[in-house]
Amino acid sequence: MGKKQKRTLRAAPKAAPVFFAPTILDVAPQLSGAMNQTLASCGASHKILLIGEGDFSYALGLALSLGGSNILATSYDSLRELNKKYADCKSILNRLKTTGAQVLHGIDGTKLPECFERLGENKTQSFDRIVFNFPHLGGSLPKDVIKNQEMLRQFIGSSRNLLTANGEIHIALRDTLFYQSWQIERLANSRGFELKR
Ligand SMILES: C[S@@+](CC[C@H](N)C(=O)[O-])C[C@H]1O[C@@H](n2cnc3c(N)ncnc32)[C@H](O)[C@@H]1O
Repeated sequence: MGKKQKRTLRAAPKAAPVFFAPTILDVAPQLSGAMNQTLASCGASHKILLIGEGDFSYALGLALSLGGSNILATSYDSLRELNKKYADCKSILNRLKTTGAQVLHGIDGTKLPECFERLGENKTQSFDRIVFNFPHLGGSLPKDVIKNQEMLRQFIGSSRNLLTANGEIHIALRDTLFYQSWQIERLANSRGFELKR
């Protein structure tokens, strides 16, 4: 398996230093639950939206570290689909909810404002960090690269109006030739974002 990278995109047109931080996924299981930490540019005071969670173990790691009250963790899958896919999901979600984190299912990262509206959530809410770890629609063929690029382009566009003025989108991708071919930096630039590090 290749190395993992975490990329931070900011909606500011200034010069962009490039730095690849280790993904939080490597760190989260070792967290002690101490509050008020800053983790890969996510802090306890940040309002954080997590997109495309799988079994919600990342969300739990983050919430145990930072406290859950500012975290809204979402999955694309319905709760029913998640329970079929991930044996531990139910217990992870129960623990996550005890941290005060909010959880929503059936959230499409390419249609964020519409999804929140459909679910009756306040569509004007804004976030300091919108995090999508290891986005993937499946497949490894050239046509799949195009589908994934389109999905991420729409995700970045859809996130823009939900970000605070200095808000950031964090996208973690593996550092392999396949994921490099997605050209995430170029497509984020095309949506008016710069790579921060
Ligand atoms: C490789 S999994 C990564 C899961 C999780 N983020 C993690 O890091 O373990 C890819 C995830 O992308 C999600 N996904 C695919 N298309 C999506 C979309 N349009 N909006 C939100 N999530 C999506 C899938 O449901 C799946 O959970």
